[in-house]
Amino acid sequence: MGVSFPSPFAPVLPVLRSRCTPRLPGQRRAKDVLQGRDRCFTSSGSAAIELALRLAGVSSGDEVLVPAFNCRTMVEPILRIGARPALYRVSPTLEVEIDAIARATSRTPRALVFPHYFGFPNPIRDVSKWCDDEGVVLVEDCAHAFLSTVQGVPVGGSGEFGVASLRKFYPTDGGGCLFSEKPLPAGLRPKQASWSSEARALVTVAEQSLRWVRSGRRLIELTAGARAGLRQALQISDRTVMDSAAARTTVAVSTPTPPNVVSASSRWAAWCALRGISTTAVERRRSNYLTIADAVSGCARARPLFPALGNEVAPYMVPLLLDVAEPYFSRLKSAGVPIWRWDRLSSYTLATPALTGLCPVTRDYGERLLQLPCHEGLSETELHRICDMLKRTLR
Ligand SMILES: Cc1ncc(COP(=O)(O)O)c(C=O)c1O
Repeated sequence: MGVSFPSPFAPVLPVLRSRCTPRLPGQRRAKDVLQGRDRCFTSSGSAAIELALRLAGVSSGDEVLVPAFNCRTMVEPILRIGARPALYRVSPTLEVEIDAIARATSRTPRALVFPHYFGFPNPIRDVSKWCDDEGVVLVEDCAHAFLSTVQGVPVGGSGEFGVASLRKFYPTDGGGCLFSEKPLPAGLRPKQASWSSEARALVTVAEQSLRWVRSGRRLIELTAGARAGLRQALQISDRTVMDSAAARTTVAVSTPTPPNVVSASSRWAAWCALRGISTTAVERRRSNYLTIADAVSGCARARPLFPALGNEVAPYMVPLLLDVAEPYFSRLKSAGVPIWRWDRLSSYTLATPALTGLCPVTRDYGERLLQLPCHEGLSETELHRICDMLKRTLR
């Protein structure tokens, strides 16, 4: 039986609250991966990867390169198409090395998914060249790097396609985005979602946000029945992204699932992404990151994986490497510290017999690498409580 831990005392992902909103009137907009690029909003980052692969012509039996250190949502879209993930090694600093990619496959893969973990841009030039030489479609996974830039340019422009995950940077019900420097196929436009579906998304966002307000929690308890009824009344089928024959021909391939399983984001999520994030919010993210990194710098039991924050990095979370996973992970979770880790990798990854030899980091970091929030919505009290618990537990 799994151990159950108390709910975290702070939200791991952004929720709608003061300081954590899409950009307000008068605020300066931070650069992000969607600006100046053609885009298509999808129900999640995972759905955006699936759409990118389908547009790349990936079909059943094809091979797609994907990092062995992954959250399951990176592998699942490959499996949904019926393609075969070819796992490649990442280094202990989560860099992608070209020889690891070349070694991961014995035949020509159709596409490669390339990550920028935790918002830290991974050098991509060599990989991009290798993809060009080999005829492999490069999909830049910017799920963690929505706001990071390299020499002033948002990451995400090196691949044929880029993908983003909106819930990691905005208070949304989910949502993802496929984007490209080149125009996406003309028919690839989200079909308008029904109003009941949009209302459902707003109820979800409101619930996620109210959980963090004292009187809001009471309100949630009091209205549980009414909300369940409302949800049922608003139940609708999935929104479809493809709404034209043109898109269907581009994307339709012989797959176990029809192409229209890829759904559009809610309008709320798309609106947030179009509105953008303020430069103040990015500065707060960076400052929260450094506060947490600084708090653990004197600890014996853990260290930040990336202690320094380059000027152009807008971090998604703080990756913190424990010396040993236990008992520290459990202690922190039991104290309600908001933590994630990739211990529930996709069953495909875990079932790969050579995983440990192929990428020692994957299993190891699945246990030892903690992810702590640094988003702009953390209150001072929450931030200090996180730092205090880390110092006390890991000193
Ligand atoms: C690196 C990376 N890529 C893609 C995704 C998928 O994004 P989403 O959760 O929006 O499906 C995730 C999700 O955690 C991720 O960490």
